[in-house]
Amino acid sequence: MDLQVVPLTERKPHIEDESTLVFGKRFTDRMFIMEYDAGQGWHSARITPYAPFVLDPAALVLHYSQEIFEGLKAFRRPDGSVALFRPLDNILRFNRSAWRMCMPEVDPQFFLQAMKELVRLEADWVPRSEGTSLYIRPTMIATEPVLGVKPSSKYLCYIILSPVGAYYSGGFKPVKIWISDQYVRSAPGGTGEAKTGGNYAASLRAAMEAAAKGFDQVLWLDAVHRKYVEEVGSMNICFLYDGKIITSPLGGTILDGITRRSILTLVRELGYEIEERALSIDEIIEGAASGRLQEAFGTGTAAVVSPVGQFTFQDRTVLVGNGEMGELTMKLYQTLTGIQYGRLPDPHAWVETL
Ligand code: COI
Repeated sequence: MDLQVVPLTERKPHIEDESTLVFGKRFTDRMFIMEYDAGQGWHSARITPYAPFVLDPAALVLHYSQEIFEGLKAFRRPDGSVALFRPLDNILRFNRSAWRMCMPEVDPQFFLQAMKELVRLEADWVPRSEGTSLYIRPTMIATEPVLGVKPSSKYLCYIILSPVGAYYSGGFKPVKIWISDQYVRSAPGGTGEAKTGGNYAASLRAAMEAAAKGFDQVLWLDAVHRKYVEEVGSMNICFLYDGKIITSPLGGTILDGITRRSILTLVRELGYEIEERALSIDEIIEGAASGRLQEAFGTGTAAVVSPVGQFTFQDRTVLVGNGEMGELTMKLYQTLTGIQYGRLPDPHAWVETL
């Protein structure tokens, strides 16, 4: 498939002060779009000026949430060049989400080339200061106008770009996490592993209640026993417990995080034993009280490596360590971002230049 580039007629004002960048509120000048029709496949791939879509009010995505998305980042390197972090892994996950949601897969190599071309054209938008990056959001939506519940015969796939700062407004301050015993995010056999908007919509009620009580994020327990840790709102979670790394296993209910995978590789290289198993809420409470729970941190593209300072379950709040960022969390943050920003060698070839 050819990729057409539609010329820009107007440019948005540029970022004047990168320290004002927050997560996901500004968008660049251009976007990538392609369309799908049953019988024809993907077609009309183009990079166009960033603009709203016209959607039929009956479009399936608006009624039954047939939608998937991804999140990855482009980083500015010390020599001024721009690189993407593990883009093919995100594209392959996009295709796995597409399968689960009965949507057409994309050609990974074509999609990667289109993404790189878009970022290349928008390279001026990749910010330069520490902790900033260009967030890349591939998305696919069902566009057939029909009210019957069925997979759409028409789709739109697009990529938008957003120059971002830290995901949490507190920056790198340890986050306060509320453990929900009332709501669940996903159940075995459901769509928890797919990156689909409905999973996030379903998380909003708990997130809103947590925010009203002063918490930053919700930690989800498993739907069956309501006892074992699954993941946090926008990140996977890892614990340093008795000197070992414990993180929830991939069993279909949590997201197979690319940052999670990268961090597991890094901790293995640092010599830590890894247990991919479900940590129970009792172990968190007991471990925090006894000091066996040494550190906890979230991992995600948006969240990077985020220290957890405390957990609250029902009426009990426990601090992790002394509530401050742990040494390992800091080391992992520095190593991961060092590789991403090109300050450290990249022995796993995770970084892809444009
Ligand atoms: C990401 O980390 O890229 C995510 O997709 C999380 C998010 C929903 C902001």
